[in-house]
Amino acid sequence: MKQEINTLLESYLAELGRVPDLSALERLRLEVLGRKGKLAQLFKDLRGLSAEERPEAGKVLNEARARLEGAFETARERVTSASRKGPAVDITLPGRVPQLGRLHPITQVSTEITSIFQRLGFEVAEGPEVELDYYNFEALNIPKDHPARDMQDTFYISDSILLRTHTSPIQVRVMEKRKPPVRIIAPGKVYRRDSDITHSPMFHQVEGLMVDKDVSFGDLKGILAVFVHQMFGPKVGLRFRPSFFPFTEPSAEVDIQCVMCGGGGCRVCKETGWLEILGSGMVDPEVFKMVGYDAHEVTGFAFGMGVERIAMLKFGINDLRLFFENDLRFLEQF
Ligand code: PHE
Repeated sequence: MKQEINTLLESYLAELGRVPDLSALERLRLEVLGRKGKLAQLFKDLRGLSAEERPEAGKVLNEARARLEGAFETARERVTSASRKGPAVDITLPGRVPQLGRLHPITQVSTEITSIFQRLGFEVAEGPEVELDYYNFEALNIPKDHPARDMQDTFYISDSILLRTHTSPIQVRVMEKRKPPVRIIAPGKVYRRDSDITHSPMFHQVEGLMVDKDVSFGDLKGILAVFVHQMFGPKVGLRFRPSFFPFTEPSAEVDIQCVMCGGGGCRVCKETGWLEILGSGMVDPEVFKMVGYDAHEVTGFAFGMGVERIAMLKFGINDLRLFFENDLRFLEQF
């Protein structure tokens, strides 16, 4: 029996030396040390031995069990530490940095424009993108046969409902609801049937409106000068050019000195040194009449600008379509 015990011990010690993982180790353990394992069987066999042989064999068997138990412990440590060192988890590697989202450059510029005017006391206002012909045209003194109403330019939903072509209807909606003084800044999406490198069927505008007693063209100039200097830098010059809009009188378009060449003349400003950035003017008395304001009591100015255009000038981008393709390589730069 001693012989049998020793053979068993040798063979299991050898196996334990090369056992690859915990599950193989557990299988071995049940095989020899388990309740119905080989050692248990040998302990049972002791009973068949003579009274002289039994103590000696029992001692050998107990020693064998102790050595096997020790060997199992050693093997367990080897297997578990090996699995910790394995390639699956390298605790020295830096963690994966989560990708941060950011605001679209158009949203950033729209927010920047809006907040400059908020600091000047203008309140943020909004209006619907699906708009009534009345607010988009009629109340803004744009007559029925005006070319801006042409199907070529406007997305009509029905005879009287359309996608707003500018943010100016917000002026009317606000004045309809409130009494002067009014000072609002209104960002939003607008829609026109137009698409090329400088036009997109959906784009963004920011509208401004100020109405009070004695608001003058000088106030308009002062406010817009502050805006241009905060947006493009204190040295950028601006000029007012006479223009026409049905809802302002007098009207003016505002140019800034070319941000690419500093006013010297280049391809971007078509050698003029100036870039148009917005439309503006004194609110036409016809518009006041539509909203029930007394044009003898109050005066006001309004302006509207295209956010994409401002963003292109600010970031030196020459193709409008980049803003709408959502290529991360482009967007990540802002
Ligand atoms: N709504 C005009 C446009 O889209 C801009 C504008 C707004 C002009 C307010 C004057 C006053 O071109």
